[in-house]
Amino acid sequence: MKFSISLVLPLLRLAGLAWAGCQDNADGFAALNGGTTGGNGGTVVTVNNQADLEKYAKASGKYVIKVSGKINISPKGTEVDVANDKTIVGIGATAQISGGGFRIINRRNVIIRNLRIGNTDGGEELDWDGIQVDTSTNIWIDHCIFETIGDGGIDLRKDSDYWTVSNSWIKGVNKAFGIGWTDNVVTKGTIHHVYFDGTTQRNPSADNMLYAHMYNNYLRGCKSYGHYARGATNARIENVYFEDCKNPLTADSEATLTAIGNIYDGTSGTIAKDIGVSFDPANFYSYKLNATADVPSIVLANAGPKADVCT
Ligand SMILES: *[C@@H]1O[C@H](CO)[C@@H](O)[C@H](O)[C@H]1NC(C)=O
Repeated sequence: MKFSISLVLPLLRLAGLAWAGCQDNADGFAALNGGTTGGNGGTVVTVNNQADLEKYAKASGKYVIKVSGKINISPKGTEVDVANDKTIVGIGATAQISGGGFRIINRRNVIIRNLRIGNTDGGEELDWDGIQVDTSTNIWIDHCIFETIGDGGIDLRKDSDYWTVSNSWIKGVNKAFGIGWTDNVVTKGTIHHVYFDGTTQRNPSADNMLYAHMYNNYLRGCKSYGHYARGATNARIENVYFEDCKNPLTADSEATLTAIGNIYDGTSGTIAKDIGVSFDPANFYSYKLNATADVPSIVLANAGPKADVCT
């Protein structure tokens, strides 16, 4: 039997299906700049303790690090350093990093998915974050839940660029999601299908972003403010469902803002008016919007770790 290329290609794709999920690649802005593929295609390891997690996370080369069950991190507040070209992904719906988080500094190409992250309460002054990203590119955070977090749930700071946060659940966190800490206007990021659940501030605070694309997020019960186009941020905010949220949409005077298709359900306070015309995300990547009225049910069903993301 002779193998033609037309036979081999579908077979390769079939083989690829065997790791579909655990080795997915990012969408949104993280799909640009060469793409965010983490350790996909590299060595696959499974870890169930802190020592092994730390060892592979800081190793050089491509690793897919599958997390099995709950890993207790000590001392409390430790942020595990993650090096370039890593995928850290929970197996099933029960993988957990408890008592610590992750630190991604001056790195590129990192994926963190399908994990419960938190139990770092008491660490606000100590900067105990869920995931801290500084000056890094091509980062994808997907299907994670952040709860009982000491300081920031997610911090994407200091010119971190080409990142996407999707399908995640930020639960009752005070400083949910901070972006910025620099005067440069370079950061490009996408936030979609994220559930901001009873969070207080920074939902997100998107400071000085060159392009901020937020769509199909669900914000319920935010206590201080919701999506915030801060500083010189150029934001496109579309088909987001804001429910019982204080100051659901705010923008600074130097910002550019196009807000379309959003629903404000029982909100109070500021709903910023458009300022100029924002960039168009469709000029950078393709994406599909859910109808805004469907966003609560879609996001509630999909946000956070799920059994079928990686098995
Ligand atoms: C919602 O949109 C996503 C793409 O962003 C799509 O995959 C999904 O099928 C849509 N869900 C519904 C119920 O339309």
